[in-house]
Amino acid sequence: MSTAAIIPAAGLGLRLGGEAPKALREVGGESLLVHAVRGLSAATAAGLSCFVIAVPPGTEDAVGKLLGPYAGAADLRIVAGGAERADSVRAALELVPVDGIDCVLVHDAARSFVPVAVIERVVAAVRGGAPAVVPVIPVTDTIKRVGAHGEVLETPDRSALVAVQTPQGFDPELLRKAHAGNADGATDDAMLCERLGITVQTVEGSEDAFKVTRPRDLLLAEWILAERHQ
Ligand code: C5P
Repeated sequence: MSTAAIIPAAGLGLRLGGEAPKALREVGGESLLVHAVRGLSAATAAGLSCFVIAVPPGTEDAVGKLLGPYAGAADLRIVAGGAERADSVRAALELVPVDGIDCVLVHDAARSFVPVAVIERVVAAVRGGAPAVVPVIPVTDTIKRVGAHGEVLETPDRSALVAVQTPQGFDPELLRKAHAGNADGATDDAMLCERLGITVQTVEGSEDAFKVTRPRDLLLAEWILAERHQ
C-alpha cells in the first residue's frame, strides 16, 4: 500500500500579485510548486507512489515538464484545476488510482516548505486508523467572530482554537465520498469530512508550513530556504 498526493496549484494568487500563477512564483530560483513536490518526495516514510497536480488550465504541459525531474519514481499526473480550490481537488481526485493506495494527502502548493516530519506524522496517523487528519498549530492572536456591521459577536476561548495547515491526510474512500457532495463554502477538505459526521484527528504542524499568500510571505520563504541550506 502507498500514498497519493494531490496538490491543488491552480489558484491565481491575486493577493500575492505578480504575473505568474502563485504556484509558479519563484523562491530561491525555483517555483513554489517545485519546492512543494520536492518536500513531499523527501518524506520517504510516507511512501508516495503518485502525485496528481491541479494546475491553471493551459499550463498542463509546461508544468509536467517542470516537475518531471522532482517526482522521483512516483507517477506524475497533471490535470486542469477548477474555479474554486474544491473543484481543483475534485478534478485531481479522479486521477488518483483506486487500487493500492491507503492514504491520500491533499497539500497546498503554497505551503511549499512544510517539514518532512509533519508530512510523515499525517500519513502515520491515517495508517494508524484515523480517517481524516490535519496538522495544526496554536493561534497566537485573540480571535473574534464579528457581525455584518463589524460588531463583535463573541470571543471564543483561544486555548481551544488552532490554525489548520496541509498536508491533510485521508482514507481514500472517505475523501471520494466527501467530494461527491456539495463543497460550497469549503475552505479545506477536512471540512467536507466533518459535514459527513467524521471526527477529524489533529497532529502537530509547523510554523514553516505557513501558506505563501501575500508579498511579504515570499521574504519569509526565502529566509526559511536560506536557513535550511546553511
Ligand atoms: O487561495 P488559497 O491560497 O487558499 O489557495 C490554496 C491552494 O489552493 C493554492 O495552492 C492554490 O493554488 C490552490 N487553488 C486551486 N484552485 C483554485 C484556487 C486555489 O488549486 N481554484
